[in-house]
Parts: sequence; C-alpha cells; structure tokens
Amino acid sequence: MHIINKYITEDLKFTIQTIKEMKLNSQNFYNNIKKRRSVRDFDRKNFDIEIINNALKAAGSAPNGANLQPWHFVIIKNNKIKRKIRIAAEKEEREFYKKKASIEWLKALKPLGTDPNKAFLENAPYLIAIFEKKFSLSDKEKIKNYYVRESVGIATGILISCLHFSGLAMLTHTPSPMTFLNKILKRPNNEKPFVLLVVGFPSKKAKIPKFAKQKKKLNDISTIF
Ligand SMILES: Cc1cc2nc3c(=O)[nH]c(=O)nc-3n(C[C@H](O)[C@H](O)[C@H](O)COP(=O)(O)O)c2cc1C
Repeated sequence: MHIINKYITEDLKFTIQTIKEMKLNSQNFYNNIKKRRSVRDFDRKNFDIEIINNALKAAGSAPNGANLQPWHFVIIKNNKIKRKIRIAAEKEEREFYKKKASIEWLKALKPLGTDPNKAFLENAPYLIAIFEKKFSLSDKEKIKNYYVRESVGIATGILISCLHFSGLAMLTHTPSPMTFLNKILKRPNNEKPFVLLVVGFPSKKAKIPKFAKQKKKLNDISTIF
C-alpha cells in the first residue's frame, strides 16, 4: 500500500505539505483572492503579454469534460479591434438597458451603477474573449464536447485567479448577445462567446460599489455533515 501511494505521489509530482503549511497556504490564498474586485474604469498603462500567456496556460490546465478542452481564448491588444468591439458592445447594451432587460434585472444591476457606456473596452490594454466550443472540428470531423459550460467556467475561474495573483484587475463583461465577437474576431460557428474579460490596471478614479464587497458568510454558502 505504501509503495502504491509513493508511486502515485511521484507520478503526480504531488507535494505533501504539513498541516501547518496547508493552513497557512489556504489562508494566504483566501487573503489574496478576497481582494479581487470587478473594475470598470481602467488605466491605459500596458504590461508584458507574457503575464497573459502564463494565465492562459494556467486556464488551459483546468479540469474539463473528457479532456476535450472545449475552449478558445482570443487576446485583443489592437486598438482598432478594441474600438470595433466597444461600438458593437455599446449598441447591444443600449438595447439591453432601454428595451431587453426586465425590470427585475435592472433592479438587480442598480447598485452596481452600470450603464451602456463601455469606455473600458478601449482603455484597458488587453481584452480576452473566451469562447466555448459545443463541438470541435478536426479534418472535417465533428467531435462532441461534454460539460462545456462547466469546463469553460472552471478555466475562466483559474484565468481570473492567476491574473489577479499577478497583480492585474479585471472585469467579466457579458454584453448580451455577444455574437458580434465571432464576426469581429473571425471565430467559427462552433464557438460561442462565453465572457469578454477586460484586463489591466484600475484608473485612479476607479470606484468599487459598496454592494460588491458584501459577500455571504461561510455559514450561508456551505453546510457540513
Ligand atoms: C458571468 C458574469 C458576467 C458579468 N457581466 C458583467 C457585465 O456585463 N458588466 C459588468 O459591469 N459586470 C459584470 N459582471 C461582474 C459582476 O457584476 C460582479 O462580479 C459582481 O457584482 C460582484 O462584484 P465583484 O466581482 O467585485 O466581487 C459579471 C460577472 C460574471 C461572473
């Protein structure tokens, strides 16, 4: 039994930590991640794309249905493309706030103070468009993917955590619908936009709604048997 455990551990390169280390590491991770807040006002300051690439590699290592890795990430740094995305997103957002959104939805959004103006889509140095792939295409063969939303959601969580850990601020933006992203970014029909991640540094005037800082307590989000 001991030998089997040792083999598995070596194969996984799994590091066994002491309980003290485990407690400290989990506490440190929480202390860091709890400082993440969605930012809607970005500075134009740039940064090395290697940080994005590392975060995307981390996202690409996520657990996923049958290891089919049903995602694609498009990095946008080109100003002309960012402008096209802003124009298309603001068009959808104007429709959303004026006509499409239910009164209930608008009420839920009110504390955030959001509106159809999406200047951050041009100001932030990078946008990352995340696409989910219901199926993959290889040599004209259609391969069905499984647990696509769950897999892409987990990968996006890892991406956000890595970028935050690297010292960057973000917004998970979801103008609805986002099909304009396929057209602007030349992505095929088997890909559906999942989230548009806005990445950079907060501007000096960036304000965080008080409401966003209120997180449910452990007892309210978990139970134990
Ligand atoms: C799937 C998803 C879509 C979101 N879409 C938008 C969006 O389109 N615009 C926006 O301003 N915030 C958007 N948000 C950000 C949420 O409003 C924000 O996460 C929430 O208010 C909690 O605040 P926090 O991220 O600072 O903790 C989105 C978040 C998620 C997870």
